[in-house]
Amino acid sequence: MSRIAYVNGRFQRHDLAAVHIEDRGFQFADAIYEVWAVRKGELLDAEGHFDRLDRSLGELRIPHPATRAALTILIRELIRRNRISDGLVYLQISRGRARRDHGFPPPGTRPTLVLTTKRLDLDAVARRAEQGVSVISVPDQRWARCDIKTVNLLPNTLAKQAARDAGAYEAWQVDADGFVTEGTSSNAWILTADGALVTRPADHAILHGITRATLIRTATAAGYRLEERPFTIAEALEAREAFLTSATNFVMPVTRIDGRPVANGEPGSVSAELRQAYLAAV
Ligand code: PDD
Repeated sequence: MSRIAYVNGRFQRHDLAAVHIEDRGFQFADAIYEVWAVRKGELLDAEGHFDRLDRSLGELRIPHPATRAALTILIRELIRRNRISDGLVYLQISRGRARRDHGFPPPGTRPTLVLTTKRLDLDAVARRAEQGVSVISVPDQRWARCDIKTVNLLPNTLAKQAARDAGAYEAWQVDADGFVTEGTSSNAWILTADGALVTRPADHAILHGITRATLIRTATAAGYRLEERPFTIAEALEAREAFLTSATNFVMPVTRIDGRPVANGEPGSVSAELRQAYLAAV
């Protein structure tokens, strides 16, 4: 874990850092978060994640605790203090501390701002990408606004644990119509037999992944045909390749779904190429 955290205006020892028990993030999951990957000390796709942060706050009508410029300075300082070369920055903003009441607290209640960092072994992530990962499918049990990056993550945590219990890396959530929405902390993609990249449209059923958006731009610029439409697990099992995207996985090949191989069960060449193209782009 990081040694220093930032909480409401102060850099503090991580093991002592705390928010109040009446914080609305703790009481109601009334909070949003954002995650940036850090590579060689630099934030990847910084502006995309800041844009999504603004959108999440706007959708929930949580006031901004700080300007983008101020947040950038705080984040850079935290990266410096924790000597993060490769890792991630986690940001959480809750509606603040107030006497427990479901409705919004009085105007002027100060949002809670928390920043932490975590080291990541990006070489280990790259080795995992050479092997590919397994996913399981689970029913999507989440609410109707998964496009907002809230800390309301109980269905995601249960599904991720179900994946781990099954020896898999991720769970692909499936909606009531049988279509894959997304992973518990990543977006889902396939490459069809006829060479189209397919990923679900950025509707209210999925988080609008910043990696997803960057990869769409990168892949279409490289000449790939993109189909933004839902797909089923059966279609994924018939696909030429499958993969997932997220800030810290970049592009991660999926080689098994529910214990069955995707194509020959080996990571595909297009996933590998898109992974390199993504890393070059950011
Ligand atoms: N997860 N879908 C969900 C539900 C996610 O939580 C995430 C990110 C993504 C991918 O979004 P992006 O490409 O912007 O990272 C998709 C972060 C990394 C997390 O929860 O730690």
